[in-house]
Amino acid sequence: MSEPSERLFFALWPDNSLRQAMHDRFGEIRSLARRGRRVPRHNLHLTLHFLGNISLSRVSCFEECAARVRARPFELVLEPGGWFQRARVLWLGCRSVPAELLRLQSDLGLALSDCDYVPEARAFHPHVTMARKISGPVESFAIEAVHWPVDSFALIVSQPVDGGVRYRVRARYSLDGA
Ligand code: 2AM
Repeated sequence: MSEPSERLFFALWPDNSLRQAMHDRFGEIRSLARRGRRVPRHNLHLTLHFLGNISLSRVSCFEECAARVRARPFELVLEPGGWFQRARVLWLGCRSVPAELLRLQSDLGLALSDCDYVPEARAFHPHVTMARKISGPVESFAIEAVHWPVDSFALIVSQPVDGGVRYRVRARYSLDGA
């Protein structure tokens, strides 16, 4: 019998007021907000590393490695939005990616490699997916910027629920210095 496992990813996890702001800003683009399947407000996040199905016996390794990462808090400005053609998703991204975010993502990937995680080879494009199953093409679109002060990251569990998935914070890690 296969070992019990959880579907996991590391992400920046916004608070409720930021979720509301992202949801509202995207909703204002009516022509886009009606397309595809919107990500529910409670699931909005920015993925750092997607781990996939991890057996429970390996989870503590990921938690311990993540706790070793040292990074500074930073501010993320979400604006504009765009579309990934292959993944068929609409997202909010950033015009200028903070160096602290790039470093956090890369240091975390390196730390996780101690648990036999292999970071994706393709470049990191930070984004918050707002809607899925979009048939394009979609031009990039402006929104009123969402200012997100980032002072932690989180390990998230993805759980199937009726008609979709629900994400839950399994562990949270403060950014308190490099
Ligand atoms: P996306 O938002 O661009 O779709 C949970 O599934 C999160 O992990 C999503 O934010 C998803 O990114 C990201 N992710 C990255 N690689 C993935 C993969 N191979 N399968 C599912 N999700 C993945």
